[in-house]
Amino acid sequence: MTDKQHASVAKWERRWLAVAASLSLLFMILIAYSLATEGAHIAQRSSRTTPDQLTSLALFESPGVQVLGANKFQVTSIAQTYNFIPSEILLPQGAEVTFYLTSRDILHGFQVENTNINVELIPGEISTFQYTFNKAGTYRIGCNEYCGIGHQNMVAYINVVSSSQYAQQISGNDLSANAEAGNIGETVYSNNCASCHQADGAGLAGVFPTLIGHTAELYNAEGGRDYLLNLLLYGLQGQIEVDSANYNGVMPAWGQLSDSNLAEILNYILTAWDNDTLLQDFSPYSADDVGAGRGQGLSAEDIYALRQELGL
Ligand code: CUA
Repeated sequence: MTDKQHASVAKWERRWLAVAASLSLLFMILIAYSLATEGAHIAQRSSRTTPDQLTSLALFESPGVQVLGANKFQVTSIAQTYNFIPSEILLPQGAEVTFYLTSRDILHGFQVENTNINVELIPGEISTFQYTFNKAGTYRIGCNEYCGIGHQNMVAYINVVSSSQYAQQISGNDLSANAEAGNIGETVYSNNCASCHQADGAGLAGVFPTLIGHTAELYNAEGGRDYLLNLLLYGLQGQIEVDSANYNGVMPAWGQLSDSNLAEILNYILTAWDNDTLLQDFSPYSADDVGAGRGQGLSAEDIYALRQELGL
């Protein structure tokens, strides 16, 4: 290369360096501008934890809404494959909310439509930020980090209602009404399982197996009663066939739920959707049954092997 050509290359290099530098500067100015004028702010880390210690943290013992003072609320939420706990949050209009969010397993997102809330949920980290809900309405929370096969079903809702409606709904709370009617199982199911297996138990063909008929079939198989319990405690990984459709997703382990909640889910899915009419000899699960199943240290692959033994 001649000296002249060298000089020309060097000149263009300097020009492009200047373009790159000014773009970076422009972006920094835009971020600073939105922080200063658009109310944008960055979620802070409130503390750290490990996913297996989550349920023993007072903050996440019962995720949901807590009243802190006049129109001041605290909302805690746990994200996990593939749902948010809780799945519904009820707040009065004007509520000043401090959020505490975390993930139990992998990266998830917490984006609330029609607000500027958009937080990445990192396992082990508890994120906190504040938001005031000035407008009534239903705000959908979506996960915006691709987290697996059920990602698109990972939604929850924040319902913001007028303060008079709020007072009414709190006193006649759906959850307690359900609990009184003995439908705790249905509530626990809809909060934890319905985002994959659907509220009507029908699942999604090829993605999430149906629980209609199939759950009864599993229970009736020899060893099926223990299998179902272990399935909830330890998860399942491996290819299965249900109603001539193939499934190769992962059923997560649900050991973080309480013994009584797991028993309630099992009893619910075995008696709902006419499954009870198919059961041969049903003795409902008790919390003690679930407690006895813990501590076996099984893996999702072990559960797959157990499933093969059922001979379905
Ligand atoms: Cu969680 Cu996508």
